[in-house]
Amino acid sequence: MRLDRYLSENGCGTRSEIKKELKKGAAAVNGSVVRDGSAQVPEGARVTWHGEEIAGDALVYYMLHKPAGVITATRDPKQRTVMDLLPERRRKDLYPVGRLDRDTEGLLLITNDGPLGHRLLAPGKHVDKTYEALVRGTVTDREVARFREGIDIDDADGAFTALPAELEILGTEPGGGEDGALTRVRVTIREGKYHQVKRMFAATGAEVVYLKRLSMGPLRLDPALAPGECRRLTEEEATALTEGLQGNEEV
Ligand code: URA
Repeated sequence: MRLDRYLSENGCGTRSEIKKELKKGAAAVNGSVVRDGSAQVPEGARVTWHGEEIAGDALVYYMLHKPAGVITATRDPKQRTVMDLLPERRRKDLYPVGRLDRDTEGLLLITNDGPLGHRLLAPGKHVDKTYEALVRGTVTDREVARFREGIDIDDADGAFTALPAELEILGTEPGGGEDGALTRVRVTIREGKYHQVKRMFAATGAEVVYLKRLSMGPLRLDPALAPGECRRLTEEEATALTEGLQGNEEV
């Protein structure tokens, strides 16, 4: 792994802070000062930062294409969980960031980076999450406008007004509903309330029959991943996530 990534994953600062400190000679690898952030850290190397040894408990980020039928939990006595789909499924420090319903597919981030998970989920952060959905019932420009204004939800799970959401109608397909059609839509929400997308459509009288998360913040589901497959994030993806969330504060 590159030295600058190693340092940022071990909590030494942002990439730009680290770059500055590296120039001043803050890091040493196996006793030699290294100023170049792109230098590779050999396996098992002793790395120090301002003279302090770094434990090297690297942060791990997985992108999972969650399939329908598994639950988003770290463990369950009866049901298959998303953790069962990871190669490192026995690791105790990994957890899913946020929750997708059992029947929802798509992008799920699994990590041991607690502060990042907190930043992605904190109510004031408003990280965009984009979903593709198939909806039974009529979806028209009227619903697009209601989503844009912020839809009122008041159901058995509570009441709230959703933040303005973007709804795009992709097309209709034969198959269901009184008018015999399903509407394929793309929707971007900025919160992560319980069953939020389903409840937003339910408030317009429509029913979500299929839901897939495509993106969360800067992270996009890799189309090469089949449902049930996962991979580690690339350096670029991890950097975009860890550094791209600054400035999403509540407005
Ligand atoms: N909204 C939902 O209704 N379900 C999910 O799984 C995610 C968002």
